[in-house]
Amino acid sequence: MEHIEPVISVKGLSFRYRMSETVILNDISFDIFPGELVGIVGASGSGKSTLCLCLKGLIPHAIHGEMNGDIWVLGQNTREVPTEKLAVDVGMVFQDPESQIIGLTVIEDLAFGPENLEHPPEEILNRMLPILDKVKLQGFLNRETYKMSGGQKQRLAIANALMMQPKVLILDEPTSELDPIGKEEVYSTILELKKNGVTVVLVDHAIEEMAEIADRILVIEEGKLKYDDTPKNHFQSPEKFLEKGWLRIPQIAEALHALKGKDLLSEKYVTPFEEEAISTLSAWLGRESNVQFTVD
Ligand SMILES: Nc1ncnc2c1ncn2[C@@H]1O[C@H](COP(=O)(O)OP(=O)(O)OP(=O)(O)O)[C@@H](O)[C@H]1O
Ligand SMILES: [Mg+2]
Repeated sequence: MEHIEPVISVKGLSFRYRMSETVILNDISFDIFPGELVGIVGASGSGKSTLCLCLKGLIPHAIHGEMNGDIWVLGQNTREVPTEKLAVDVGMVFQDPESQIIGLTVIEDLAFGPENLEHPPEEILNRMLPILDKVKLQGFLNRETYKMSGGQKQRLAIANALMMQPKVLILDEPTSELDPIGKEEVYSTILELKKNGVTVVLVDHAIEEMAEIADRILVIEEGKLKYDDTPKNHFQSPEKFLEKGWLRIPQIAEALHALKGKDLLSEKYVTPFEEEAISTLSAWLGRESNVQFTVD
């Protein structure tokens, strides 16, 4: 069988911030393969953003503390490679988009990264326009960034990361400031990136949307990697999440799971995917459907 190298390989990662007693990440190991879209979920304070900072190499270079274990991104050990070098291939949208915006206007902000790499101005502009379209910020080129709303800043941060045409994109809660339509648009952009071969790490609370597009979801609990599985496997038997109450599960899976609890549905029909759930429910209601429905 062909051996495929992971794009991201995390081995025994632990981290404690300087000046803090608490170990925030505790012996985490996982691999992410080319073109995978991996979601990360966990309670507030469980260490998701800290993990993103490690993957981006900002820990240990710019943010200090005690780091154990190793991370390889595109074959480079993050301890050894300078952050600027890693930044060419690894884009990140930070949880607080405000902290990421450096340009006074949209055009300045988006040009900053490619200008640093000495790309010619026409090429930068040519790259910028379709990206602004993609994040629904057409016509915003000369807008002052400090006048933009939270949602617009979040879109700008995504556009900014896309300007560098990264091979790996890390998104830390990229939809927290967006309304449901904005959220859907960002998710369709993420799906398109995946289709173009970009490897995506996505931290978000939008579990319904994440379950639809993620290949795997990692569940972090108090700095430990608790579960790593496909959305289908996670939410077909979601008892472990429901009991603890710190992870919201897709509503449709929760509803089907409740029917299962009343012996009205067998576990194999419990799914986080809307299309599948609609087929099952129409069969269950005795309507036309391509599912041969049985309660067993
Ligand atoms: N610079 C820092 N110095 C010390 N402790 C920090 C620092 N940044 C974060 N922490 C602590 O590390 C823990 C994990 O924080 P982190 O931001 O990684 O969690 P998170 O899972 O992203 O949370 P949220 O869902 O709220 O974004 C928290 O207890 C936080 O207070
Ligand atoms: Mg966070």
